[in-house]
Amino acid sequence: MQILIAEDQLRETVDRLARQIEETYSGRKLTIVGLLLGSVAFLADLIRKISIPYELEMVSSRQPMDNSERPGPLVINPDVLAPVVEGRDVLVVKDIFDTGETLWELIPQLDDLGAARVRSVVLLVKEGRRRMPVQPDFKGCDIPDLFVVGYGMDHLGKYRHLPYVAALDPDEIAAESPS
Ligand code: IMP
Ligand code: MG
Repeated sequence: MQILIAEDQLRETVDRLARQIEETYSGRKLTIVGLLLGSVAFLADLIRKISIPYELEMVSSRQPMDNSERPGPLVINPDVLAPVVEGRDVLVVKDIFDTGETLWELIPQLDDLGAARVRSVVLLVKEGRRRMPVQPDFKGCDIPDLFVVGYGMDHLGKYRHLPYVAALDPDEIAAESPS
């Protein structure tokens, strides 16, 4: 395991993103939508640094039943989301921008619920992986195309508790994965 982003760098990154968000949304009607599960630690830290008012909601993805590294399809509850999305500036909070498929799926659904404008903030962007014509609006750190864990992100339930972001070696991933 190799540490990619240490605790103090995570703190500085979250502080910088929170300032950018406050500047962008000052005087606006902001709704923050957290994309569970990998973003829980980032979301918890970020929302405590944003001092302008905002509504908060969550969207989940189905847990994949196999050992796939990709989350399952999104679970959107329009009854819950519509009241806090309609007519408001929506900011989606996500752990990793990988292929872009999740944002590509989610943003039009938030548009359909009547959002005034949808943007996204992501903690990590994996270099060279994007497959969809979508970009994060606020970006934490670029990382190489490696499987990362820690700071809320897991591999098969492990490593969420780590206070830093680390890359797993391919042999560590293979050793943990059911064959
Ligand atoms: P997307 O490909 O941009 O839609 O991102 C898919 C999701 O896959 C991310 O939000 C993460 O939850 C998960 N994911 C992608 N790469 C990693 C990784 O290196 N570690 C942990 N989760 C990952
Ligand atoms: Mg996971």
